[in-house]
Amino acid sequence: MSTHVQEIKEKLDIVQVVGSYIKLDKSGANYKARCPFHNEKTPSFFVSPERGSFYCFGCQAKGDIFSFVEKFEGLDFMGSLKVLADRAGVRLDRADLSKDNRKELLYEVLEKATEFFEEKLAAEPHAKQYILGRGLAEKTLQDFRVGYAPNDWRQLRAYLKSKGYRDEDVMAVGLIKKSDKVDRPGGDPFYDVFRGRIMFPISDSSGRVVAFSGRIVVDDEKSPKYLNSPETILYRKSKTLYGLDRAKSDIRKRGYSILVEGQMDLVMSHQAGFTNTVAASGTAFTEDDGADSAFGLLTRLSDNIVLAFDSDAAGQKAVKRIAPAISLGMNVKVVDIKGGKDPADIIKADPKEWVKVLETKKDFIDYLADTIIDSKATPGAIAKQVKEDIFPYIRAIPDDTPRFQAIKKVADKLSISEDALWKDLQAYVRANRDQAGSAPATAAGASGRRLERLESIERKILGLLDSKRYFNGDEAKKKELETIAGEERSKSFAALSPDDIAELTLEAEVTYGDMNAEKEWKLLILSLEEEYAKKRLEVMMAELHRAEKSKGQAETAELMKNIHVLTKRMQEIKNARAMI
Ligand code: UTP
Ligand code: MN
Repeated sequence: MSTHVQEIKEKLDIVQVVGSYIKLDKSGANYKARCPFHNEKTPSFFVSPERGSFYCFGCQAKGDIFSFVEKFEGLDFMGSLKVLADRAGVRLDRADLSKDNRKELLYEVLEKATEFFEEKLAAEPHAKQYILGRGLAEKTLQDFRVGYAPNDWRQLRAYLKSKGYRDEDVMAVGLIKKSDKVDRPGGDPFYDVFRGRIMFPISDSSGRVVAFSGRIVVDDEKSPKYLNSPETILYRKSKTLYGLDRAKSDIRKRGYSILVEGQMDLVMSHQAGFTNTVAASGTAFTEDDGADSAFGLLTRLSDNIVLAFDSDAAGQKAVKRIAPAISLGMNVKVVDIKGGKDPADIIKADPKEWVKVLETKKDFIDYLADTIIDSKATPGAIAKQVKEDIFPYIRAIPDDTPRFQAIKKVADKLSISEDALWKDLQAYVRANRDQAGSAPATAAGASGRRLERLESIERKILGLLDSKRYFNGDEAKKKELETIAGEERSKSFAALSPDDIAELTLEAEVTYGDMNAEKEWKLLILSLEEEYAKKRLEVMMAELHRAEKSKGQAETAELMKNIHVLTKRMQEIKNARAMI
């Protein structure tokens, strides 16, 4: 173990560390909170100051301050060590370096390159002039470690070589490439990737440089304006947001993040005091990583996000890639930037103007609906646009209540009947159900997704059970449902009116069509049991809270035991579902 790990653990109090990320409430000898690692409404996440550890009854996440920071910030152990060492005022040294020498070495290459670019910016007046002319102050350049890559083929490579770094390591971080065109004997096939560019180092959330984005200074009309590092073992595009290392604490404090597109937008925003801004630049927004994605990390800092993308076509397209944030249950708002400008332009002209623009933010669904209204389309065209531009997002909303609200809003704004929208949405979901990848968003797939609520699961089950096309008359299935639902609940199912039943069966038939629903049934029954278990867990957690305050050790211990049994069953359900 690193020589300093113990020292840091002794210096830092877990309650303060965790409490700086999420709000903790005292609960007996412990502290509790809503778990940052899974979605829940009632707290099942506990921190024990005595043991210096945390534990979540809901998702079984557990560990110490290092694993908390790792998980929360999406870092590896060394990243969390750096964050916590900074905080504890402990200076790390060589002995702290991880066993993974290769990774350490690559970080070092990137750090040395950053220093090289910084020096070059100071040494090349025309580059410096350019970037100052864009409105960046000297201090901002230093804070963001902005640099310059000389317009030359081998300067960086020569510099790194002189410092003893091997070509293959420099190549592994995407700073040099090997040409296959060199046929001269003794010809040098390696060349610098970034040439004649202002260099913006991109860091992970602990502040270690993992990649670069370079903006061309003198446009040659054939090179791209911005060039970005490729993905490497240190740089995962779907996990990285430019500026996050500097924005994370203010996102927490202010309770929302602002997402801009470009490097210049980001740096100008911070310079003007909008320090809760991050940039999407080069981020691949995918759902594959769910809670582990860039958005996953943002949600843990704050559920609220304001998109401030350019008003040009590319910016508007970028807005549409936001579905993964919606799948995670984020509250997404959009600002309307008019007149072909971008945040950097506006802030450069007048930061106060940017405040005004931010004030125009509106709910994402409103924004989509308004865009359709502005297009002055015919009713027929509107229906098509709703399907293409709005359904993918409504479908991605993971909770019922906001999804209902969104439907209602769209219906009101576009003067469409709510019923018609629901029917269209169901048909849309059905048509796209087997092609998750092709739809911009599906609630499924993201590990941070929220499960369909109890009610919607019950509706599906009852629909299948009541429809002659599926399991109407299947006594075994009826029994299965009753066993899980319990007497009370089963009674209320039996009391459904013929109208209710007709609606449920229609819904099921629209949803499942001709498919064999056996598999679906198994999944639904497991999900139902899980939802009931979650509810029971909530009740038990509340009881535990009371018991810790007023009752004795024995009751508390008994409750803890029951909670463990229940969470174990919940884990079994998860596993069983994965097997289907
Ligand atoms: P823009 O073309 O809007 O650039 O692309 P910008 O931010 O206004 O840049 P400046 O102000 O002219 O310097 C927005 C973002 O898209 C990415 C970059 O991250 C850029 O900041 N981009 C753009 C690329 O990756 N490659 C490109 O060739 C262009
Ligand atoms: Mn721009």
